[in-house]
Amino acid sequence: MEGTSQKEIRILDKVFIPFIGESEIRQYIERLAQVINREEHNTHPLFLVVLNGSFIFAADLLKQIHVPCEIEFIKVRSYEGTTSTGKVEMIFSPSEAKYRNRTVILVEDIVDTGNTVEFLYHYLYRSGAGKVKICTLFFKPEAYKKTVPIEWIGQSIENRFIVGYGLDYEGYGRNLRSVYVLK
Ligand code: IMP
Ligand code: MG
Repeated sequence: MEGTSQKEIRILDKVFIPFIGESEIRQYIERLAQVINREEHNTHPLFLVVLNGSFIFAADLLKQIHVPCEIEFIKVRSYEGTTSTGKVEMIFSPSEAKYRNRTVILVEDIVDTGNTVEFLYHYLYRSGAGKVKICTLFFKPEAYKKTVPIEWIGQSIENRFIVGYGLDYEGYGRNLRSVYVLK
C-alpha cells in the first residue's frame, strides 16, 4: 500500500485509521464478479445500485461483469452519523416497469442493521420483481437484525464504523481509495 494509507486521518471531529487496503478490496470484488458472472449468465439481470455509498464499488464491480445486464440507480436514506436511525425513506427509484419479472441485483456498499436492504427487498417484490438478490461489498454480521437473504458478500467485518471507498462519515470520506475505521 502507498505510504499515505498507513497514517491516521481526521474527518470532521473524528480520527480514522487504515483498515482495508486497495488490493484487498480489489480481491473481494474479483471474487464477487466471478461468482455473479457464473450464476447470472442467462438471467439478464438489472443491477440496481443503491446511492450514494455504492457508486465506487458498483463502478469497479460492474466493469468485471460480463453477462448481459442493465444498470439503474436507486436512492434511499436511512442512516445519520455513526448510528442507524432505523427509518428508510425513498428518494428516487426507476419506474416499476424496469423491475417487472426481472432478476434485480441490489448493489450495496454495506449491510449493517439490514433496515435498508429489508426495505428495498420488499419494495422490489411489491413492484413486481421476479427475483431479488443482494450483493454487498461489506457486511456486519453482529449488527444484522433482519432475515432477508444476502446472496453475495464481499467481506464480513466487525461491528465498527468505516469510511472510504464510497462510504461516508457525515457526507465526507467517500473519495478515499481505501477503507478506514473509527479509531
Ligand atoms: P443499515 O440500513 O443499517 O443496514 O445501513 C445501511 C446503510 O448505512 C449503508 O448503506 C450505509 O450508507 C450506512 N452505513 C452502515 N454502516 C456504515 C459504516 O460503517 N460506515 C458508513 N456508513 C455506514
Ligand atoms: Mg451513508
